[in-house]
Amino acid sequence: MMTQHRLTSRDQAQARDGQDCLAPMRAHFALPDDITYLDGNSLGPLPHAVRARMTRTVNAEWGQGLIRSWNDAGWIDLPERVGARIARLIGAPAQAVFAADSTSVNLFKLLSAALALRPERRVIVSERGNFPTDLYMAQGLITQLDRGHRLVLVDDASAIPAALCDDTALLMLTHVDYRSGAMHDMAALTHQAHRVGALTLWDLAHSAGAVPLDLAGADVDFAVGCGYKYLNGGPGAPAFFHVAERHADAFVQPLAGWFGHEAPFAFEPQYRPAPGAARYLCGTPPVLAMAALDAALELWEDVDLDALRAKSLALTDAFIATIEGACPDRVLELITPRDPARRGSQVSFRHPQAYAVMQALIARGVIGDFRAPDILRFGFTPLYTRFVDVFDAAKTLRAVLETRAHERPEFQIRAKVT
Ligand SMILES: Cc1ncc(COP(=O)(O)O)c(C=O)c1O
Repeated sequence: MMTQHRLTSRDQAQARDGQDCLAPMRAHFALPDDITYLDGNSLGPLPHAVRARMTRTVNAEWGQGLIRSWNDAGWIDLPERVGARIARLIGAPAQAVFAADSTSVNLFKLLSAALALRPERRVIVSERGNFPTDLYMAQGLITQLDRGHRLVLVDDASAIPAALCDDTALLMLTHVDYRSGAMHDMAALTHQAHRVGALTLWDLAHSAGAVPLDLAGADVDFAVGCGYKYLNGGPGAPAFFHVAERHADAFVQPLAGWFGHEAPFAFEPQYRPAPGAARYLCGTPPVLAMAALDAALELWEDVDLDALRAKSLALTDAFIATIEGACPDRVLELITPRDPARRGSQVSFRHPQAYAVMQALIARGVIGDFRAPDILRFGFTPLYTRFVDVFDAAKTLRAVLETRAHERPEFQIRAKVT
């Protein structure tokens, strides 16, 4: 147990908040006073700047500017501009990243591009525990191609290197596991995939804005990620894609829409792909949602990502140690790696009644989430999570378990979204 990280009093937690260089960032978010919010890995909270930007975009740009705002307010450039902001956070060149579509749709486009770049190979390697949409998109594409491709799934990350072979077209992984928070070594696995001639596609849904990334340094081929989690772009915010410059011009993506055309407003009957990664755009961008994400990303401009990582690990270390100190009867099983080098920015525990426990926590103002079949998941988002949140959440979890509050009938009812 990491006893040195354990928070034993609220005063001690407050003292740590007092020393936190990122603490002033919290004032940028509209967080309710009576809520301990540990679910920014599912939905980031509302930044005040987004509210102001929405008012401007709706009233002035749409209301008054009307169609002129595509040019005058720069709507047309939003996918590129927002992509460039994200590029800084993931260690990629600005021109390699665009905001567009959902993560699922971007996965389809990039999976298709990757398989076309390795036409003689038939295997996609991934993990059985990968996020389902990643696996579904690969399965759907394989069925549609009908050329004998196979999705080879490993049960344990340690089996990935051995699964790579000279028939592997693509290694497709989620960098930080959505259930456990375990983080892969992106550079090492990308290198191993390249050694057998395969390409890599990384899902950064739980990494972008959570941990420092260096896609260029790791020589990553393709990546996708979410806008609504750590990037705080709002519910259903646009996602992003990354295409290494060496591949950008090599392939026409399958969803060849007019926004990926070299000259959309020439209205030519024949598709001609735009140069570079812009060809992976598809249709008209959702301007309101893009503007919200753009404003949310402005908050990141001066954030030191090393300080972010240091605080993230301090928060997750403190949470693990405080929970284990407060709830020592072993009813909770930690599934997040204790090794900081292997941990993203969340902490997950198994509990046989995890759904009901989470409902009881939410009823007491501590919001995390549940992932089937038995996982309590808590996200730590250093822009606004405080050490007092760690202390309060651990105290509340202990109270729920001690009083068996989760056994009440109302906490057994499953909602659609968990
Ligand atoms: C790893 C991962 N990939 C993808 C998604 C979601 O993709 P989409 O934005 O298409 O819903 C999630 C959502 O939680 C996720 O955790």
